Amino acid sequence: LSQENQSILSAYKWLTKLYNHLLRYTKDGKEGYQYFKDRGISDESIEAFQLGFSPRVKDFTAEFLEKKGFHQQLLIKAGLLSLQDDQVTDRFMGKIIFPIRNHLGKTIAFGGRNISNQDGPKYLNSSESDLFQKGKLFYNFDLAKRHIRREGEAVLFEGYMDVISAYQAGVKNVIATLGTSLTQYQAKLLKRYVDTVILCYDADNAGMEATYKASILLREAGCTVKVAKLQENQDPDSFIQAHGAEAFKNEVIQASDTFINFYMRYLKKEYNMSLEGDRIHYIEEVLKQIAMISSSVEREYYLKELSNEYDLSLNSLKDDIQKNRQKGI
Ligand code: GTP
Ligand code: MN
Ligand code: MN
Ligand code: MN
Ligand code: MN
Repeated sequence: LSQENQSILSAYKWLTKLYNHLLRYTKDGKEGYQYFKDRGISDESIEAFQLGFSPRVKDFTAEFLEKKGFHQQLLIKAGLLSLQDDQVTDRFMGKIIFPIRNHLGKTIAFGGRNISNQDGPKYLNSSESDLFQKGKLFYNFDLAKRHIRREGEAVLFEGYMDVISAYQAGVKNVIATLGTSLTQYQAKLLKRYVDTVILCYDADNAGMEATYKASILLREAGCTVKVAKLQENQDPDSFIQAHGAEAFKNEVIQASDTFINFYMRYLKKEYNMSLEGDRIHYIEEVLKQIAMISSSVEREYYLKELSNEYDLSLNSLKDDIQKNRQKGI
């Protein structure tokens, strides 16, 4: 690690401690603490995830770090301060802080969330650098890793709050991408630790698209994909807060769909199934995915389902599968 990067890590370490302390014990951080309380987050979770608040005091962060001997240029480079019209400002002022940890548990970036009607985006991350590349890590991987190994499954969410809520509810093999779509790099990384990935994205159109794209990458990386079921417009956090831990485990995680069942649902939305041409396309696309399944029992199972639903002979479907498999997909 370069001198400079060591210094940036050290700045993040100080600030993680500071923001967490301010949140828990001071007047300046009280609104952040109250925000987490209102969202059902326990003190224990605040500790485990080192959640914090950057106070609405101009120059607070800059001065704190300067006193510790950090150079302004470096802090700008680290994405902690930003330069606006020659004014140095704290990028995260007035936001609750989610420290983003690498696989060793060291903070390498912050996610900040607006908690008032400030303008600007809801969430803001540290800018990317050679220390922090969103497409190469998962939020909470350091804490989740051993649970992922033990369960033989990883649950993948969209956001910080989903991870924290689930972890607090006792589902600990949980990680998230940081609001970006899953990359091939992340899919391969995950495959090194686990075979089965349960995708549990928000139940809206964006979530469904993201689920489709992520599942293709994960399957290419060799993972078995399952898709958790949430009701329209819910996300994992809102489900847990509304229905509790047990319901989340039993009705969302345990009841997750196989990839093929998800894919059938997804495609039916894309196609106009009252048109013969679309129906044929649909069947062809589903057959391609069935062809990728390594277990012949499982393949046969889905083929039967298709043949029943569309009144096609099992033999013609099997022919098709044979051709797809020979293409070496
Ligand atoms: P809450 O509203 O706090 O429950 O957040 P959420 O996690 O449900 O947010 P959402 O589903 O909108 O987005 C999922 C994840 O995408 C978040 O946790 C963030 O990491 C990221 N994200 C969302 N909105 C933004 C944004 O405006 N900018 C950036 N950079 N990231 C975002
Ligand atoms: Mn959003
Ligand atoms: Mn969303
Ligand atoms: Mn969400
Ligand atoms: Mn949410």
